[in-house]
Amino acid sequence: MKGIILAGGSATRLYPLSQSISKQIMPVYDKPMIYYPLSTLMLAGIREVLIISTPRDLPMFRDLLGSGETLGMKFDYIVQHTPNGLAQAFVLGDRFIGNSPACLILGDNVFYGQGFSQMLKSAGTTEDGACIFGYFVKDPRAYGVVEFDESGKVLSIEEKPEKPRSNYAVPGLYFYDNTVVERAKTLKPSARGEYEITDLNRAYLDEGKLRVEIFGRGFAWLDTGNCDSLLDAGNFVATIQNRQGFYVACIEEIAWRKGWIDNRQLEKLGSELDKTEYGKYILSLLN
Ligand code: DAU
Repeated sequence: MKGIILAGGSATRLYPLSQSISKQIMPVYDKPMIYYPLSTLMLAGIREVLIISTPRDLPMFRDLLGSGETLGMKFDYIVQHTPNGLAQAFVLGDRFIGNSPACLILGDNVFYGQGFSQMLKSAGTTEDGACIFGYFVKDPRAYGVVEFDESGKVLSIEEKPEKPRSNYAVPGLYFYDNTVVERAKTLKPSARGEYEITDLNRAYLDEGKLRVEIFGRGFAWLDTGNCDSLLDAGNFVATIQNRQGFYVACIEEIAWRKGWIDNRQLEKLGSELDKTEYGKYILSLLN
């Protein structure tokens, strides 16, 4: 399974001057936002990751994350010149994906909860069809909305409907078989001029190949799209970390627990950051 992080677009809805800031590089509490989706891919066991962003921002991600070697991973980078839709990720990622199944995560989506690794493991076995997720929200109108029956069979999926058929929003985390590349190439732009991920999901649905897994109410899918939700996400991470002492989305810890790097490498990575609490946490794992 190969992973893609879509991290384009500027933080236009966040701050004055935010036109010039990459949203996904800004911190959620104590680490760059992109660490959160990256950690999700890592928990799914994905070691090869393609990062897609704008011509302006891609060099920043490359500076931050490098080749991935220090984490026992492999990172590739590709520019998306115009943000004309999430489904474009698979057209741009064609060569990177090769013959593998693929997982897409949006660079500004934060997930956290018990049993998540297990769910990711199961979704990660998707070799025929697609697996997406559903999350109950009060107002789903800003999202893809999925309707399904008791057995989890999807009945409909719509993008930002005025009158949603359910309260289940589709988070920005998608698992597909290898046909996703060819399917993405045949999509037509929607009324708002975008290659929609929801149209891609509908193509699977029409063939009875779309599965939906539900994240329960004890699970956190956090938004980072405006000042309040970004602050909430930061406070959430701080609360968990300060209460438990375990860090959320510490990519060095995950790589080490997965056995992708050894103690010596973990110590090296921690020492490079030892002026920060984050670095001290990494070093404390070795005690
Ligand atoms: O967050 C989940 C939702 O994400 C889903 O429920 C929707 O079905 C899906 O369409 C998407 O909706 P959004 O309105 O949140 O998508 P947005 O256009 O804001 O893009 C999400 C992120 O992806 C954002 O950080 C910018 C980045 N992006 C977006 C587009 C369209 C790109 O990097 N390239 C793009 O072409």
